[in-house]
Amino acid sequence: MTEQVEIRRLGVAEVHAQLDGLAGVLFDCVAGGASVSYLAPFSHEHARSVFEAVAAEVEQGRRLVLAAFAGGDLVGTVQVILALPPNQPHRAEIAKLLVHRSGRRRGIAQLLMERAEAEARTEGKTLLVLDTVTGEGAERLYERLGWNRVGVIPGYALYPDGRPCDTTVFWKAL
Ligand SMILES: CC(C)(COP(=O)(O)OP(=O)(O)OC[C@H]1O[C@@H](n2cnc3c(N)ncnc32)[C@H](O)[C@@H]1OP(=O)(O)O)[C@@H](O)C(=O)NCCC(=O)NCCS
Repeated sequence: MTEQVEIRRLGVAEVHAQLDGLAGVLFDCVAGGASVSYLAPFSHEHARSVFEAVAAEVEQGRRLVLAAFAGGDLVGTVQVILALPPNQPHRAEIAKLLVHRSGRRRGIAQLLMERAEAEARTEGKTLLVLDTVTGEGAERLYERLGWNRVGVIPGYALYPDGRPCDTTVFWKAL
């Protein structure tokens, strides 16, 4: 099924044009209980405002946004944070890898990650870092893609319902 999926890097105009699709994916992930920065109650409008702020970062060259389309629908997204302190020009961070629940287990997250790594390389980055909730599917994905597990930080963040969750930190040299 993955052959029907298209991954695109979105410029600022396309982030604005796809705001509803991007917000829809974020809203769905939070509604599904994912710990991705936001707490319940979380609305589609809030999700749109999140991506409006992301669009400003894309415009300033501080962040990349990739999106996965299946049958014309935006079903997944990931971001590459390029703007880091001056002494880390070679490093980027991966953030907000999100796939709508209706599009999961088709390899879309893997395609997004492979493209994110390729785009980071194109931007001259040689080191990537990310963190993710401990004990969930994303951890297996990163390990499968050759990321190195640093360790677990207990109680690092909260699930949308306020329960604490542990976080695992990963790095990968490109
Ligand atoms: C984590 C997340 C991004 C994974 O998205 P996804 O597109 O389902 O990921 P993939 O399809 O690449 O891989 C997921 C599983 O499907 C399997 N899979 C992939 N293609 C498949 C196929 N064609 N048929 C059957 N299974 C398949 C993978 O092997 C993997 O299995 P595993 O969980 O047992 O290791 C998604 O669950 C999500 O958005 N979660 C909420 C947000 C989140 O936690 N994001 C991570 C924050 S860092």
